[in-house]
Order: sequence, then structure tokens, then C-alpha cells
Amino acid sequence: MTGKKEKWLKDGHEADANLNNRRLVAGKRKFDTIAVHGIYNMEEALKQNNASLMEPVYMSPAQTFTDSDEKELSLAYEIPGWIYSRFGNPSVYYLEETIALLEGYQAGCETSSLVTGSGMSAIFMAVEPLLIKDKSFPYPNIVAQAKIYGGTFHLFSERLMQDRGIEVRWIKDAMDISEWESKIDDKTRFLYGEFPSNPAVQIFDISEIADLAHKHGIPLLVDATCASPAITRPIQHGADIVIQSVSKVMSSSGTTIIGSLTSRKDIPSRVGEDEMKSDFAKYVQHITYRDFGPAIHPLGAIMTLNDLRSLRGRISQMSDSAMKIACFLNDNDKVEKVYYPGLIEYIHYETALKYMRLVDSDEPAFGYMLAFDIVEKNRGESINTRKFYDSLNLVWRTADLGRVKTIATLPAISTHQQQGEEARDMADILPSCVRLSAGLEHPDDIIEDLEQALKKI
Ligand SMILES: Cc1ncc(COP(=O)(O)O)c(C=O)c1O
Repeated sequence: MTGKKEKWLKDGHEADANLNNRRLVAGKRKFDTIAVHGIYNMEEALKQNNASLMEPVYMSPAQTFTDSDEKELSLAYEIPGWIYSRFGNPSVYYLEETIALLEGYQAGCETSSLVTGSGMSAIFMAVEPLLIKDKSFPYPNIVAQAKIYGGTFHLFSERLMQDRGIEVRWIKDAMDISEWESKIDDKTRFLYGEFPSNPAVQIFDISEIADLAHKHGIPLLVDATCASPAITRPIQHGADIVIQSVSKVMSSSGTTIIGSLTSRKDIPSRVGEDEMKSDFAKYVQHITYRDFGPAIHPLGAIMTLNDLRSLRGRISQMSDSAMKIACFLNDNDKVEKVYYPGLIEYIHYETALKYMRLVDSDEPAFGYMLAFDIVEKNRGESINTRKFYDSLNLVWRTADLGRVKTIATLPAISTHQQQGEEARDMADILPSCVRLSAGLEHPDDIIEDLEQALKKI
């Protein structure tokens, strides 16, 4: 090895050690402080970024290198570098480091994150390396909660099962550990759940299911988009990989579509190289993400980071509003049933209390999303539901959630239309179901709008 290469390697190791140190320092702070500062500090600003208070937007596609040795070592991932924006980008990396710290907050383990072009691509990036061909484990299957976001249902049932022959074994009652246990065998690659699920607001006992997965040497993947790390951090409870559609409540303004996957170090898996198991998110960044290409724009990363700084305050206000709205709907005779983990009537209220608390406080917080069924003459109808929905004035009729504006959608004809009636039946999604995502308005105004629309039935 040339003296120059040795020097690059030495500098690279120093840069890695410096980064680890910044992670350690930042990781000791409280949740809000991490959300505001991440790992960006004054020293870095003064040395590298023209003393800029805010993280700069590097709208550049590629890095230039001092010499061929530095380039060769960077492209071999032997020294840190961002190379090309499909591999990494310094602005995107500020967002990744912040998310890693927030998802790993109080988990007692190291975490790494990768952000991708959408929540769906984060899910795809998370499952792809666990589904590789392996002669010792042919005919893979996966075990997943049936009540999940329609796009994920479609990805699993169409792209994985129909197109690639990967069997998907659906769990109807995610709280029933024996159902999960009965569906796992020696070909199962991973377990997958949503906490809480969209739109049914179904939950499961994360630590029980994580223990079950680990007993079989496989990872538990959890999509926690509808909770966010300000309420539930699945890694703290034993999950191995967490997915977020970051453009939902983590950013709320939704100016950019972004997803994230965050992993703990040393995940269990029956397949894959040791390098993949030791740092899953970084492995995916180096290989899967680079090859499939779901990169994000650096401006979007910094706009999202700016939103993320106020996550805890927003989720607290949204949860309070959602609770008030849920109580109002629960007392209204045009509403058949309300699904919200904060209601005492909620079927698994005790489990919700165990996992859903506002970070850095003891207060329960049940999130921004709730669902309810409108009273219909016959099951399967949506006559009253559509009348109510079409009468909303302030609440937006939009297939979206986690926004600063309150939004309602009818999952059967929107987010869960594509999966078809049979699959909707399996997931208990009726045409009379309304999903509501509470925003930051005063809840009295939202309740007034819901009330006038219910009166139109
Ligand atoms: C729970 C959940 N996961 C994943 C996704 C997909 O995220 P994206 O729309 O960013 O691809 C959504 C979208 O609504 C969602 O609700």
C-alpha cells in the first residue's frame, strides 16, 4: 500500500471516530434537543460550512476527490465519503443521523438510518435484502399483519407473492401471539407489523412479537408511521427494523415525499451476509439503495429536517385533538363505532397504554389517527358515509394523513381500494369506515364541522 493510501485510511478512521463521538454526545441529549440539533454543531459549521447556523443544502450530484487513492478507497467504502447523490449526500445525511437518534432514543443500543424517496421505497429497501435467494432457505415466506396500509398490502400480495412467488401469510388478529407462532416455519424470513395500523388503528404487543421473531432467528419489522418516534419507538421494545413514511407526521407539511428505515446493530436473520446483519441500514445504503436508486433531493431532506425539529410538540397537540374528536364521535348516534387507542372502550387499551406515551413525559399520547364507522342501514353500504363525507367543509377530503391540516378519507374507495373486496374483508375495512387524521387546528372547529356533516345524514 502506498503512503498516500495509508494517510487516507488514517484520515478516514479519524473522521469515523469523530462522527461516532458526535453521535454519542448528541445521543445523550433529550428528544427535543436531538430533533433540533441532530449531530450538526458549531465546530462543524465553523470548520466546514461557512459558519452556517442551519444545515446547508448541498445541491450537488457528486463529490470531487483530491486524488485517485482517495477516490478508490471511497468507492470501496473503506473511507467515508458521499461519492454521488444516489449513494449519499451530506444534507441527506444530516436527516439520516437525526432520525437514527430519534428512533434509537432510550433504546440502549446503536441505530442507523437510511432515508429513501418515499415510505413505500423504504419498505421495499427493508424487505429486499431479507428475500435474497439462498439455497439453504428456498421457498421463502413472510408473516405479516393483514390490517396494514393498502400500498404495503399491495406490495406484499402483488409484487412479492404474485410476481415473485414469495408466500405471504397474513395475520388477522395481531394481538394473538399464537396466530403469529402458528404461521412461522423454517422458511420464514421476517415478521412484519404496523403500529398502529392504518386505518384500523390495530396494535400488537411489540416486545412479545419481537421475542417470538428472535426465538426463530428472524427480524421483526415495524412500520410506525402512525405513531412516530415521539410516541412509540419499536426498537426500544425489541423490534429490529423500523419504517416511517417520514413525510407524514414527522414532517407534517409534506412538502417532500420521504421514507426512512432504521435498524439496530446486529439484527437476527437466516439469510444475508454478516455485514448486512451487523449494520442493516448502512448495508442497504451501500448496496440495495445504490443499485435500485430511490434517492431523495437534498433540499427535500433539509425541509423535512426543519419540520422534524418540532415533532414532539406537534404530536402532543394532535394527540390531544384526536382524543377530543374521538370522544365527540363516540357520543354521536350517527356513528356506529370509533377506533382510537385512547378510548377506554378500545379493545386493547392496556397494551396501548404500555406503548403509547409522549416521549420525555409520562403522559399517554395515542397519536393523530382515528377511524370510525358511520351508521348504515345495511352492512356493506356507504350511503350515509358518503353523505357525511361530501358535507365536510373544513376537514379536507384527501387520501393523506399526518398533516397540519385535518384530513378525512374513505379507505375502501381510496387508500385500500386496490387491494379488492376480499382483502378488505380480511382486514375488516368496511365501506362505512372513515379515517381521520387530526391536524393542528383548534379541535372545536373540527368538531363543529364533523357535527354539521353528521347532521346531513
Ligand atoms: C402506515 C403507512 N406506511 C407507509 C406508507 C407509504 O408511504 P409513502 O406514501 O411515503 O410512500 C403510508 C402512506 O400513507 C402509510 O400510511
